[in-house]
Amino acid sequence: MISEKMATALNNQIKLEGYASFLYLSMASWCDKEGLEGCAEFLHRQSDEEREHMLKIFHYLSEVDQHALTPEISQTPHEFDSVQELFKQVYKHEQKVTHAINELVAQATLENDYSTISFLQWYIEEQREEENLMRTILDKIKLIGDGPMSLYYIDKEIDAINQAELSAEGGAE
Ligand code: FEO
Repeated sequence: MISEKMATALNNQIKLEGYASFLYLSMASWCDKEGLEGCAEFLHRQSDEEREHMLKIFHYLSEVDQHALTPEISQTPHEFDSVQELFKQVYKHEQKVTHAINELVAQATLENDYSTISFLQWYIEEQREEENLMRTILDKIKLIGDGPMSLYYIDKEIDAINQAELSAEGGAE
């Protein structure tokens, strides 16, 4: 059993992960509309991953005899200025999630809640990987440039990153 305060904080994290899932889904849809198929596939996969992150906390709360709450998700944006701006938003959101995870670890530490500290270790590593991945994407976009001729190459690069991630996931099984 974990504290009510910890359970509330974890339910808030469920909301944040759920929002990320919907945000990336919305971004995938925008990319599809813009003909950026590689980016769309990448973001669909990210959206699915965020749903898994949300569900992991959901199951953890049930496991420790607390009440997991289905979150109210606020409306995500539907339109984005450019693919560069879109990935900047992804990176910013990932930084926000990292900050929230750190806060959860701080709270669990304060409460000597070793179960939650242990549970959150997976998220700490995941966030380091996600932030690194988004920085890599932003660096590639910067290298390619942001003219209309560049979109094709940006999409190819992100498709390649997506395929590499898929292979790595397959290899980890
Ligand atoms: Fe689950 Fe990428 O935050």
